[in-house]
Amino acid sequence: MSLLITNIGELVTNDPAAAPGDLLGVRTDAAVVLTDGVVSWVGAAADAPAADEVFDARGRAVLPGFVDSHSHLVFAGDRALEFQARMAGESYAAGGIRTTVAATRAASDDQLAAGVARHVAEMRRQGTTTLEIKSGYGLSVDDEARSLRVAREFTDETTFLGAHVVAPEYADDPAGYVDLVTGPMLAAAAPHARWIDVFCERGAFDEDQARTILAAGTAAGLKGRLHANQLGEGPGVRLAAELGLTAVDHCTYLSDDDVHALRDAGTVATLLPGVEFSTRHPYPSGRRLIDAGVTVAVASDCNPGSCYTSSLPFCIALAVREMGMTPAEAVWAASAGGAAALGRTDVGRVVPGARADLTLLDAPTHVHLAYRPGVPLVARTWTA
Ligand code: NIG
Ligand code: FE
Repeated sequence: MSLLITNIGELVTNDPAAAPGDLLGVRTDAAVVLTDGVVSWVGAAADAPAADEVFDARGRAVLPGFVDSHSHLVFAGDRALEFQARMAGESYAAGGIRTTVAATRAASDDQLAAGVARHVAEMRRQGTTTLEIKSGYGLSVDDEARSLRVAREFTDETTFLGAHVVAPEYADDPAGYVDLVTGPMLAAAAPHARWIDVFCERGAFDEDQARTILAAGTAAGLKGRLHANQLGEGPGVRLAAELGLTAVDHCTYLSDDDVHALRDAGTVATLLPGVEFSTRHPYPSGRRLIDAGVTVAVASDCNPGSCYTSSLPFCIALAVREMGMTPAEAVWAASAGGAAALGRTDVGRVVPGARADLTLLDAPTHVHLAYRPGVPLVARTWTA
């Protein structure tokens, strides 16, 4: 089965070869052919080959489907009151994670899966075609393993985050909790996960604990990533660079040394502007990172506490308005950047051989994603 999408006013390819010197590799008056779940042809509409079916984009913009490299969708419960209190001046200290842990443990597998399905559908309506999902609201052997089993029903990009915070049962024995995470919990989680993550932050896990947990995960065949420098400067970003991790996420508080370490290591900095929006922390500067030569991704961090948005268009608008990024840089960060943060080359680009994951906007150009914040511009997606 082949589908020709033609009459595309602006096609964002993220392919440097498509338009030299243009970050997004934009082609105008373009067409794409999708064959059996793969992009099989990209070029000028006038040159398009025949296909089994034809879709007329009527001059609108087509982009690679967004790649959301950071979400926490396996949860139950609601923390709207916590958000309301923050907007009235309370500070965010991640203590609410335990509220979600209690609700998640009490939920059935079907309830958890229904919640993930609802949020994945939300993401899809907003242009996301690849997503990562973390565990981290179970914090027991069984609840972490089942969180990952549920997540796996929706994506291959699953991340074991048993080291989100110390489980309540181990409040007086954090070392015992690290032993649990690196022992039986990891053994139960690893078959369902691709990544291992640690919340390396004051009040969660320190540098030594993070090293221990990442080393155990790596030995079990998982790839490391980190939550770091979200609530203040700390060792997490430097640790990620030292270990050569694919990505380190949040990066809200960065020293110049942190920025240089990221650049030298080639570790992707994943910015999560919805978190700053929802916690009133200051936005990090995407401009500073990009100007220093760091690869930047933008992701949602969709979770019930620090940031309950599933919308990458919203995050793109924030990245442009609040983090000094151009619309092109923000769109790149939410597509090719997200792919880089997941170590993927088959998504985030519209080139022959890539997965057939595309987003059609009800708008003539990608700039509208930031120019028209809060407007549902995604007309439809195609996915392999
Ligand atoms: O990415 N930083 C830690 N974890 C989540 C927040 C979790 C929560 O507040 O429930 C985050 O922001
Ligand atoms: Fe997170």
